Amino acid sequence: MTEAIAAEQLGKVYANGVEAVRAVDLSVAHGEIFGFLGPNGAGKTTLISMLTTLLRPTHGSARVEGVDVVERPEQVRRRIGLVFQRSTADEVLTGRENLEIAAGLNGLSPAESRPRIREVLERLDLTEAADRRVSTYSGGMRRRLEIGAGIVHDPGVLFLDEPTLGLDPQGRAGFWEYVRELRARHGMTIFLTTHYLDEADQLSDRVAIIDHGLVLKTGAPASLKEALGSDVVQVRPSDPNSGLRSVLERIPGVRAVEPAPVDAAIRVRVARAEAFVPAVVRACDAAGIELAAVETRKPSLDEVFLSVTGREYREETEGNPTNGPGSRARRAGGR
Ligand SMILES: Nc1ncnc2c1ncn2[C@@H]1O[C@H](COP(=O)(O)OP(=O)(O)OP(=O)(O)O)[C@@H](O)[C@H]1O
Ligand SMILES: [Mg+2]
Repeated sequence: MTEAIAAEQLGKVYANGVEAVRAVDLSVAHGEIFGFLGPNGAGKTTLISMLTTLLRPTHGSARVEGVDVVERPEQVRRRIGLVFQRSTADEVLTGRENLEIAAGLNGLSPAESRPRIREVLERLDLTEAADRRVSTYSGGMRRRLEIGAGIVHDPGVLFLDEPTLGLDPQGRAGFWEYVRELRARHGMTIFLTTHYLDEADQLSDRVAIIDHGLVLKTGAPASLKEALGSDVVQVRPSDPNSGLRSVLERIPGVRAVEPAPVDAAIRVRVARAEAFVPAVVRACDAAGIELAAVETRKPSLDEVFLSVTGREYREETEGNPTNGPGSRARRAGGR
């Protein structure tokens, strides 16, 4: 069977000369959750717009379920669902009415759409709120409704552009569950963009890390992290002037030692944190250094990003959890 999504050397140069996406190769299998991860302005929306036929590539080609996005855009559109980065729900209509419009736009007759809408409302926990105006919905409910509008015609591939932007942590966690369920129950292929490293990590079977329009790395989050080959052990002495650093540097198996940003703690990179902690305790004991804390950390996608770009992927906390979808909360790692 062909892949769900395939792109070869796909690129976009905007009229103003900005090269937003450069020669991207992609291959997403049926039923896969694929995360397209990158900071602000990396080219995520541009890429998703080309894959969903909204934007014409300037070079390369792409197919969705085997259908070329430039040659047969209307056939591609029938096969996909799309949820935009910004909110598209009509506030003055009810949830059900919004879904009726989406169903009509996707070519479903009223007779076909009624049972589908009922099912979608049920699945997204919106049955009770279905006949209320969207203006009374919470941010999480709106996002769910928008997903509902994206899947009402039962597409094979669902594209989500920054689906959790502006949701609070609880709303995001709930959303992840829905996405997993869509895949588990319906075998839907899900392509999502995100600038949240943890989201890409937890949700995706594979991720592509994009920066300045270039895909820098593709793989399963676990294998990308394992490929870095080092865990971090962070050691904090009770006395900041204890000489901890030189003690840690002498322990066999240490790959790198660096100061941690907090409380005179020291970070050590080692192959396996679990095996290293007892050695830390013994060495500090022998040197008469009292420890306040020892923490271990497996590498995260943060470190993967750092290793492929040479830059920190700093995530600023989303200022205000009540920000509705579509509001531009403060963003990560911009330029
Ligand atoms: N219509 C346009 N005309 C010119 N340049 C554009 C246009 N749309 C986007 N760009 C530029 O292309 C680059 C990629 O933008 P894009 O919106 O694809 O990034 P993104 O990863 O989706 O960012 P964000 O995280 O902010 O949504 C940016 O430099 C942006 O300024
Ligand atoms: Mg975007």
